[in-house]
Amino acid sequence: VQWTAEEKQHITGLWGKVNITECGGEALARLLIVYPWTQRFFASFGNLSGATAIIGNPKVQAHGKKVLTSFGEAVKNLDGIKNTFSQLSELHCDKLHVDPENFRLLGDILVVVLAGHFGKDLTPECQAAWQKLVRVVAHALARKYH
Ligand code: HEM
Repeated sequence: VQWTAEEKQHITGLWGKVNITECGGEALARLLIVYPWTQRFFASFGNLSGATAIIGNPKVQAHGKKVLTSFGEAVKNLDGIKNTFSQLSELHCDKLHVDPENFRLLGDILVVVLAGHFGKDLTPECQAAWQKLVRVVAHALARKYH
């Protein structure tokens, strides 16, 4: 992928203001609530019965933070996203058997979460750059599937 200077600015500028703990936990919790079939990958996380339980589940919060931290590696190296996620792609494919459609869903949810946190500051141009980023990350994570 090619990034314009403006896209890079939108991505890194917003990322600098993101609270990874908060937004990561919220994004994973929302994924599990909005697309309940994704819960089946997280059976070991304990109580996921309903939105309140999911949001309050410390394992969901901790894993959401882990995922968003990992996502941050893409932000730090926008021109090397494929390589950054090549091992994680193998893990999600061979070991976890996560359907790659779910990467796209989580990416879209992340944009919703950012919109909730930043409101008007998430301009259409900034949203477009982020939407492109979450697609590129989803694509990179799906690359080792066979
Ligand atoms: C584990 C990243 C999307 C399911 C992980 C780990 C990372 C990660 C860094 C920990 C790997 C390790 O322990 O070595 C990401 C990123 C995603 C993403 C960057 C997208 C932006 C998803 C989605 C699902 C999923 C959409 C399922 C719906 C899992 C599961 C684990 C895992 C089940 C293992 C959890 C555990 O038992 O500890 N992921 N992930 N991931 N991921 Fe993802």
